[in-house]
This record gives sequence, structure tokens and C-alpha cells, in this order.
Amino acid sequence: MRFPVASSAPVPARRGAPRDANGLAAHVWPEGAHRDAQGRLVVGGVDATTLAERFGTPLYVVDERVARRRAARTRAAFESAAASIGTSATVYYAGKAFLSTAIARWMRDEGLAIDVCTGGELAVALAAGVEPARIGFHGNNKSVREIDRAVEAGVGTIILDSEIEVGRVADAAARAGRVQRVRLRVNSGVHASTHEFLATAHEDQKFGVALGDAVRVGRAIRSHDSLEFLGLHCHIGSQIFDAAGFAESAERLLAAHAELAAVAPVPELNLGGGFGIAYTEADDPRPIEVIAEGIAAAVAEACGRHAVPVPRLAFEPGRSIIGPAGITLYTVGTVKPVPIEGGWRHYVSVDGGMSDNLRTALYGADYTVRLAARTSDERPSLVRVAGKHCESGDIVVDEDWLPHDVGPGDLLAVAATGAYCWSLASNYNHVPRPPVVAVADGRARVIVRGETEADLLARDAGLDDHDDDADGVTA
Ligand SMILES: Cc1ncc(COP(=O)(O)O)c(C=O)c1O
Repeated sequence: MRFPVASSAPVPARRGAPRDANGLAAHVWPEGAHRDAQGRLVVGGVDATTLAERFGTPLYVVDERVARRRAARTRAAFESAAASIGTSATVYYAGKAFLSTAIARWMRDEGLAIDVCTGGELAVALAAGVEPARIGFHGNNKSVREIDRAVEAGVGTIILDSEIEVGRVADAAARAGRVQRVRLRVNSGVHASTHEFLATAHEDQKFGVALGDAVRVGRAIRSHDSLEFLGLHCHIGSQIFDAAGFAESAERLLAAHAELAAVAPVPELNLGGGFGIAYTEADDPRPIEVIAEGIAAAVAEACGRHAVPVPRLAFEPGRSIIGPAGITLYTVGTVKPVPIEGGWRHYVSVDGGMSDNLRTALYGADYTVRLAARTSDERPSLVRVAGKHCESGDIVVDEDWLPHDVGPGDLLAVAATGAYCWSLASNYNHVPRPPVVAVADGRARVIVRGETEADLLARDAGLDDHDDDADGVTA
């Protein structure tokens, strides 16, 4: 179907029109994604039309081979960079990006440890059969119950986020008759996002202890027989494209690390995650090998200056491993040209929205959208892909270009939705959450079942309660 209003007027686009509105930029789409002879998008050897017919839309699709390759490549990059400065590295997959039992097993099989930040994520990792010793447990407000459970399960490390937690975890370990390994999360004052980092004396955020308190809290940790202090931890932000912010943060942390190392060995330094990916063609993160080498060089240099042995290194990437492995498929319901200053913006509404991808509404994230079941030679039109929710901020792709004949029934694919989409999904407007399908070698299988309206109603305790006259509340 054509848009009801012809549009040739220029519009104020942040992104220029692409040379080919059917094109699949290799650094944005899952590695190996291509179009078949009928113009259909193929991911993991399965075409989008088949996926939509079999599983419906909206649909999260994850290419298992791509996820595994990215995990293995990340591990190799950090291990080899660490080896070049005479140490070793552990890579934790940050489960908050996207965790299911299948994904936890892929990561485990590729030799990664797992970082969890709630009791729920811990439960998924344990249910997947991840060895507890290979789990790091984060969180700025872990409940005593969560801490007890983590200690009893034998998690490898707990990352302490505040002074109060030092005593809580020490008590839990003492109750369990264990010595719990811990790291201390420090707020280094470095905050990074994409191309830039900010280095300030303090960072006004909830995570970690202030850099100036790190040595004192480190000493407090050491005063507990039930705790073993491994070292300092810092996570500086997200979608970071190069090593500079990590290098600055490592430098700051190593000053505190050196003070603590003057008293007793500090075996480890954890520099967190946050490595960026390409959401659009314009995004150009450095290869992970280059970033790993840059960080390692900065660590080695700072250790030399502070005269401390180079510690073991640890990292916690989430997005950079799983983000590019995922796409989301949607079906177009309506298209609508809306007059705006200088031209027209075409609203293309799909059958999902902010309940399956909150990032655009939450952070103003950019995405790339393409027709998934066909190509078209029509000239590109600037579009905004909107969801179906009762909220004007319900936008999936704020701005991209699609062939002008996009219309109802078209299948759309949004790239790089593997991280922080499923994990931030909600039931807003009582929309059931879509299934997750893993594709590999031409086969597709459900790894997380989609919700139904019956699932939504199953938790509604009012369903069987027809006593409308009751004015009291019974416990
Ligand atoms: C402590 C910590 N580690 C790792 C990550 C993962 O970050 P990313 O997915 O950007 O690599 C986060 C994200 O918020 C985090 O808070």
C-alpha cells in the first residue's frame, strides 16, 4: 500500500537517506544475515517470513551462533590482552542484558562466567546449571534473603556495593560457616557513554562507594574473617566505543588498589562492562580486541607507576555479546503521514512497542529498521516506527528510512535488539510478552515461551472473587 499523501518534501532528518533502504549493513545486522532470492531477510539460516508464520509477531529472534561467536571472541580478546601484560582475565557475561537458561548455557559453554544482579537472575543461572563458583552477584540493594541464598549456593563472588553490605555479607557467610569472596564496587567518578567519558571528582549515582572511601571500606572488609577481599570493581557506563574511559577508571582505581596492596595482596581488578555496539550504520565501536589491548596497556602502565603487581583482570560485558545477535520482527498495522515542519513524517505502527522494547522511550535509543519479507525499489521515506500502546512516547524506531510503499501487513525487522529489550519487557496495556526464538543452522526453536492472555489472567486474584459487596480485606 502507498502512503495516502505523496511525500517528496525534505524533512529534518538526523540520519540522511540511505543509498539502499533495503540494505543490511554488516556491522548492524547479525553476522551472516542476508536477503534470499525472494528478498526475504535470513538470520541463522531461517527466513523472516517463515519465522513470522510459525511463531507470530512480535517475535524476538536470537542467532545462537552469533551470540556464541561473540562470547568466544570477547573471551579470547581479554585473555590474550591480559596474557600480554603477564596476567589472566575472566569474562563474566552480564545477565541483565538478556538471561534465559539457554543463553546462560551458551555463555557457560563458551567459557564465560555469569554476572547476576538479583535473586531472580541468580535462580535462572543456577537453573541453567552454571557452576555457582562461576557466578558474580551484584546489586546495590541485595536483600538479606538474597545474600543468604547466594552464600549458601556457593557463588564465587559477591560484589559489595555499600558499607552496610560489608557487615550483611560477613554475617551471612559466618552463619553459613563459609568464607565468602567479595569485591568492592567503587564509583570512580568516570562516566562514559558512547564517544565520550566524563571524569569528575564524584559521580552522583547510586552504585558503589566513593573512590575516596575505597581504602577505608577495603580495610573494613579485611577485618572480617568470613570475607576474602579480591579487589576493586568499577562499571563506568554503557555503549562505550573505545578504551579511554576504562583506562582513566583503571588509573583511578589502581591508586586505591596500591594503597590496599601495601598491606596485603590484592589479586584482582574488575573493570565492568559497557562495550558498545552498532545500532545504526553511523555507529563505529572499536573492535573488542583493540579495546582489550588498550585497557591492558593502561593497567600495566599504572601498575608500573604504583609499583604493584599486575592483578588478574575481570570484565562484565552484556550488550556487546548478545545485542547484535538479536532482532525483533513486527507486522505493520497502519501507516500515517503526519505533517511536520518542512515536510512529512510517516508513522508506521506495528504490533508491539514499548512493552517489548523500552529503550527508545527510556533512553532515546536509536535503531535500524528494514522490510523483512521483501525488498522494494520505491524511493526511501523517512519513518518513525511506533508501537500499539496508549502512550505517545511509544516509539520503537525514532527515525529511519523505509521504501515508500511500506504498508499494512508488511513484516519489519529491527536490528540489534538482543540486549535490554526482552529483559526490560513489560505487560503494559496487558500486552503479552512475545516469545524468544533461537535460530541456528537453518533451524528455529523457542527458548522462552510467549505469554498468552491466559498467563496474564492467571495471576489476577480477583478473577474468582465475585463477592462485590465485600468491603473488608482478608489476609
Ligand atoms: C555492574 C555492571 N556490569 C556489567 C554491566 C553490563 O553492561 P553492558 O551490557 O553495557 O556491557 C552493567 C550494566 O548496567 C553493570 O551495571
